[in-house]
Amino acid sequence: MRVAFLGLGRMGVLMAAHVLSAGHDLVVWNRTPGRAAPLVERGAREAPSVGAAVAGADVVALMLFGPDSVREVLAEVCAAAPPGTLVVDSTTVGPEAAREFAATAGASGLRYIDAPVAGSVGPAADGTLGVLAGGSQGDYDDALPVLSLWGAPDRVRRVGEVGAGSALKLCVNQSLGVLAAGLGESLRLGADLGLDRELLLEVLGRTGYGWFLGQKRPMLDSGDFSATTFSVDLMVKDLRLAVDAAHASLPVTAACADAAAAAADVASGQDYAVISAHLADGPPARR
Ligand SMILES: NC(=O)c1ccc[n+]([C@@H]2O[C@H](COP(=O)([O-])OP(=O)(O)OC[C@H]3O[C@@H](n4cnc5c(N)ncnc54)[C@H](OP(=O)(O)O)[C@@H]3O)[C@@H](O)[C@H]2O)c1
Repeated sequence: MRVAFLGLGRMGVLMAAHVLSAGHDLVVWNRTPGRAAPLVERGAREAPSVGAAVAGADVVALMLFGPDSVREVLAEVCAAAPPGTLVVDSTTVGPEAAREFAATAGASGLRYIDAPVAGSVGPAADGTLGVLAGGSQGDYDDALPVLSLWGAPDRVRRVGEVGAGSALKLCVNQSLGVLAAGLGESLRLGADLGLDRELLLEVLGRTGYGWFLGQKRPMLDSGDFSATTFSVDLMVKDLRLAVDAAHASLPVTAACADAAAAAADVASGQDYAVISAHLADGPPARR
């Protein structure tokens, strides 16, 4: 099988490596050159353009930032890939964009499934991500050999037609964004009430914030959010996608999106746990 993998960010470079480990042909492309070196050393070919990457590929995998980047890159894929090529989009794009991209691909005779992933860089490196796929049964069956390269056997599943995986993924990330912001306000409240931070974190660790603290406590303790697994910028994107996707208004999610955007203004590129710190430590009190 020949796989073209487009997008070698934190997740893409790790996911693409599994294609090589399984012995398949891998052609990679990234907008900014220089990210492909660890893959090229192991036998991948770096293409100079999207068009060169997808020519001759059986499957085109996308792992880009969000809907705008997929729209741009997919236009080039459609111009160059032969009819019947299967596009597997693991970017978190939201359900409406996924349906738009399926239509775009379909108009050029290509097939498209949305297959966003759950889990971060650890599971991406281990090949144990969750994969939430949306598409026809036939396209999913054809994509499964690729999805199984980076997904855990019991966590790769078809959850419905195109857009269904993206809908589920937005709900997953909405929960993470609300946790990050909520914890920040709990810490702020505790500080305002004169509570010892260590004691507060210990007790909050046994509440609903326990999972988040289990992951992010070292960053919160050190104040260093530079060992990014999931950037604050991606969280802004996903919370805004969630607000836009809902039919009802989502005031809590919208407030969390604003809080995430305020954190991103001063901490772009850092881990999304910086949202908690930004709410806990600032802005200054009103009184
Ligand atoms: N990190 C996680 O824990 C995680 C977990 C699950 C899902 N996701 C989702 O997976 C996707 C990738 O996440 P990531 O953490 O790997 O992101 P990332 O490190 O920020 O990488 C983003 C990738 O998108 C590319 N890109 C951005 N804008 C582009 C454009 N206009 N045209 C072409 N390429 C463009 C970047 O290329 P350059 O190198 O040129 O900037 C880079 O390769 C996102 O949709 C994210 O929401 C992430």
